[in-house]
Amino acid sequence: MSGRLEGKTAFITGAARGIGLAFAEAFAREGATVVLADIDLARARESAEKIGERAHAVHIDVTDITSIERAVAEAETKAGGIDILINNAALFDMAPIVEITRESYERLYAVNVHGVLFTMQAVARSMIARGRGGKIINMASQAGRRGEALVAVYCSTKAAVISLTQSAGLDLIKYGINVNAIAPGVVDGDHWAGVDALFAKYENRPLGEKKRLAGEAVPFGRMGKPEDLTGMAIFLAGSESDYVVAQTYNVDGGNWMS
Ligand SMILES: NC(=O)c1ccc[n+]([C@@H]2O[C@H](COP(=O)([O-])OP(=O)(O)OC[C@H]3O[C@@H](n4cnc5c(N)ncnc54)[C@H](O)[C@@H]3O)[C@@H](O)[C@H]2O)c1
Repeated sequence: MSGRLEGKTAFITGAARGIGLAFAEAFAREGATVVLADIDLARARESAEKIGERAHAVHIDVTDITSIERAVAEAETKAGGIDILINNAALFDMAPIVEITRESYERLYAVNVHGVLFTMQAVARSMIARGRGGKIINMASQAGRRGEALVAVYCSTKAAVISLTQSAGLDLIKYGINVNAIAPGVVDGDHWAGVDALFAKYENRPLGEKKRLAGEAVPFGRMGKPEDLTGMAIFLAGSESDYVVAQTYNVDGGNWMS
């Protein structure tokens, strides 16, 4: 199938690489114009150029409301009114409870929670002003479903994303804006190299071991790839999900059931 997002404009945060980039590529194949919004503008530009004419890169720092508003305005100038937002940018960190630092806590909340809420707010305001509804997809995680001994802060930010999705979903549906979330499990990419290195440090493991075990533990039989998530994102971005409101979908090879 193709052309399911023909004529739509999608604004995707953290799209310079990884899952966000896979969303941008898939959405462009479905006919959407895509805006790759990232703090790493050079990489977002490189990625947009590879996608082609349908793709634009803009700088955004989702920890800063002025930057969010500027990026949304720039995106609308370059690509037209935003029909679809994917709040995908996030940071990971981990430490035992007694070693968590204030700096790490604030950094993760600034990107993973503040970033999601205020990007959602800026785009929702624009969608409401246009009066054509829209689709908002927030990236949660299986980490938001259950705490983990060494991952308290990240897990709690992703639980907050699930909760924000529920509240925003209930509030914005009256404007024809559907807010839903995707909860991936373990997805291969640059992000997991960092996760693996932190587990190696705190669990005293050789590099690569945690990643291998995490993949083997997935009922499907392997880690996810960014492409495994694109079908759900296309569904949530398109008209077939019009009656889907305030939900978080697990796309994790069977890791979590809810
Ligand atoms: N990879 C996984 O195993 C996994 C599992 C569950 C959930 N997720 C979630 O999926 C999403 C994408 O994950 P990924 O693995 O592709 O991540 P990634 O680390 O590969 O990419 C994150 C992107 O966000 C950008 N970013 C970081 N801080 C930013 C800021 N302040 N403003 C704007 N952009 C910023 C980075 O430059 C990067 O391009 C995240 O929300 C993540 O929490 C990932």
